[in-house]
Formats: sequence, C-alpha cells, structure tokens
Amino acid sequence: MKTQAAVVYEPGKRIEIEELDLDKPQAGEVLIRYTYAGLCHSDIHVAHGDLEARLPMVLGHEGAGIIEEVGPGVTRVKEGDHVVCSFIPNCGTCRYCASGQQSICDMGATILEGYLPGERFPNTGPRGQYGAMCMIGTFSQWGVIHQNSVVKVDDDLPLDKAVLVGCGVPTGWGAAVNTAKVSPGQTVIVVGIGGIGINAVQGARMAGAKNIIAIDPLENKREKAMELGATHSFADTADAMETLTNLTRGQMADAAILTPGLMTSEIVAGGFNAIGKGGVVVLTGLNKLMEQNIELPGTILTLFRKTIKGSLFGDCNPTTDIPKILGLYQSGDIKLDEIITRTYTLDQVNEGYDDLLAGKNVRGVVVHSH
Ligand SMILES: NC(=O)c1ccc[n+]([C@@H]2O[C@H](COP(=O)([O-])OP(=O)(O)OC[C@H]3O[C@@H](n4cnc5c(N)ncnc54)[C@H](O)[C@@H]3O)[C@@H](O)[C@H]2O)c1
Ligand SMILES: [Zn+2]
Ligand SMILES: [Zn+2]
Repeated sequence: MKTQAAVVYEPGKRIEIEELDLDKPQAGEVLIRYTYAGLCHSDIHVAHGDLEARLPMVLGHEGAGIIEEVGPGVTRVKEGDHVVCSFIPNCGTCRYCASGQQSICDMGATILEGYLPGERFPNTGPRGQYGAMCMIGTFSQWGVIHQNSVVKVDDDLPLDKAVLVGCGVPTGWGAAVNTAKVSPGQTVIVVGIGGIGINAVQGARMAGAKNIIAIDPLENKREKAMELGATHSFADTADAMETLTNLTRGQMADAAILTPGLMTSEIVAGGFNAIGKGGVVVLTGLNKLMEQNIELPGTILTLFRKTIKGSLFGDCNPTTDIPKILGLYQSGDIKLDEIITRTYTLDQVNEGYDDLLAGKNVRGVVVHSH
C-alpha cells in the first residue's frame, strides 16, 4: 500500500512530504493507521543532524492510532485496538525489561537506524529503503511497526490527547517521579518548559513537591508552568538563585530537572549550582551524541554528595506506565488538553517545527487524514 510520510533526507534540509510504498506486516509486526502524532524536539535534532540517524528517515516518534492488521504470531494487540506507541520498544525478556527497566530495552539499540528487527525496512520509495524514527515513524498516515512498540489503550480515550503519552508526558513526568524520585515537601527546579518540561512540572506537583521553580526565557512557557503547578518562574536559572536560597533557608533544590531544547554545559552547570547537598541533576534534554556538555567541579560533587543522572523515557515502563498515566488523565490529575497549543496537517509539519523552534508551542500535534 501507499502512505504519505514526512521524510528527512539530509541534515539541515527541510522535511519533505513524500509518498512511500509500505509492505504488509510480517511476523511480530502490525499495520497501524496513525491518527495523531506529536511534534517533539527530538525529531528536529535528527533533521538538524544533532542526532545522527540513518537517512532517509520517516520522522515522528510520538504517535497514536488504530491497529488495522496484524502479522503472524502477534499476541499483544488485535485488529481494531486503539494504541499509543512507545518511542522505545520493549521486548519483555532482555535483562533490562525483565528487571523493570523497559526504557533501556535492548531492542532500543536501533531507534536511530530506524529499521525493525532483522534489518527490515517496511518503507521503500524513490531513494531506496527508509528507516522510521524510533522504529515507528509516526509522521506517516500508515506504519508497519513491531508489536513491541505499541501499548493498547481504552477505546474511549481521546487519541488526540493520549498521543502525548507516547513521549512527552512519560518523559517529563517520569523524570520527576522516577528519575529524581521527588518526594513530598521537596524543592524542584525544572529548566526548559516545552512538551517535556511541562510534564516534569506536573510530575513534581503530583509527587508532592512544595516548591516548583520553572525556568524558561519565554513568558508563554512560564505562564503555562504556573497554570499547571509551578510555584515560581524565572527566565534564567541565575535569576532564581535568590528565591531558591530564601525558600530553602540556603539548602537549595533537591532536584534540577533539565529539559531544554538543546543541552549545554552552561545549563548543566546552572542546575548543578541550584541543587544542595544530596541533590540530583536529571539530564533529559539532548545535544549531539559526542558533545561534551557536562563540565563540573567533581570535588564539589563529592563533598556535597550530589548526583548527575540521565533519564530516558522518564525511566518509565511503557506497558504499565502508559496506561497508568492515561488513568491519571481520566481522573483529572494529569492535564493533557491544556498542553496542546496547536494542531497541524501532515503537510504543515515544517510549519509545526518552525513554531516549536520559535517557542510558540508547548506541544503541537499533527492530525492525520486518510
Ligand atoms: N531523554 C529523553 O527520553 C527525551 C525524550 C524526548 C525529548 N527529549 C529531549 O528533551 C528536550 C526537550 O524537548 P521538548 O520537545 O520539550 O522541546 P521544546 O522545544 O518543546 O522545549 C524546550 C524549551 O526549552 C526552552 N529553553 C531553551 N533554552 C533554554 C535555557 N537556556 N534555559 C531554559 N529554558 C530554555 C525553550 O524556550 C523551550 O520552551 C529536547 O532536547 C529533546 O530532544 C529527551
Ligand atoms: Zn520525544
Ligand atoms: Zn527488552
């Protein structure tokens, strides 16, 4: 069958919309009709070449849709199921999955190669074989993906909102709840209020943080953070230091969760200075794979017993955390409607990313048509 997809061919070039041929699902694979796809910053890292991926690649790794066909041996879902995709697949049996760390499943090794197990490329077109971002490629009307990349959700959930639970919500919420392990009464600083950071604010609020300090140079982002649970907001971490000192009687933050579009050593140092003894800096935002963006005084780290931690998919387990977070949305504890700024058609994907880079969106969502 044919599918319209948003493809990146060369770093630095605009994303192109192209018609590709899509193979039928083989063993363990499913055909999904994507209904919605979220515009996360990580796709633009691939388009800009910050994240070096195998190209050409169908972009998009936040997605929701309906299973239209299943290949032989598929047991996790059936035709007609509504699903949210996980940008990290989970095999269930590797060392990491088996010990409750699905976000570092061994199957995730090829998310930037974009092929399915066995170097299989269901998408082909004028430039040969096309990979799919995170093995899903949700900026496409249809996809053939592995069953380990989808999680069945309740039929009555609105997929136009649930789509955010494929990346942005678990990544941000989990950075606070799982990685920083925020507990009641703590003080948390969240740096960068995009689709990820706003959910770190929501996670810190749910975990019982007393003070949640949101940092973003943009006023619209700071306002949204205050609406969804931040207690203070500043344009820059340096501006927050006096308030942080006063709020904590000099003990400083328990956690700094760093979710800027591009992680720099200045941002990491700012987070490091904002936490106190026993505090943790959580790195969620990305940069080039080999960028040396942690430059810190190690002796202070030791003497103040500080911790620096990376967080992938918010250290969530997709098979249990995607349904859990959606349940919290249904009960009103996590807000999704409020964090979607604008919707786009697939043809408008470049406009969507221009808006993201201009800071207009907390999250933009592509609405697919078929
Ligand atoms: N670790 C993971 O699992 C994971 C998952 C998804 C995305 N990411 C990464 O997380 C980052 C954020 O993604 P997003 O979709 O929320 O991006 P976004 O572009 O929606 O949001 C980034 C925000 O950071 C703000 N910002 C930029 N410079 C800043 C600074 N110096 N101080 C404070 N704020 C600053 C911007 O104004 C913007 O509001 C990206 O690097 C993305 O690739 C990581
Ligand atoms: Zn993402
Ligand atoms: Zn696994």
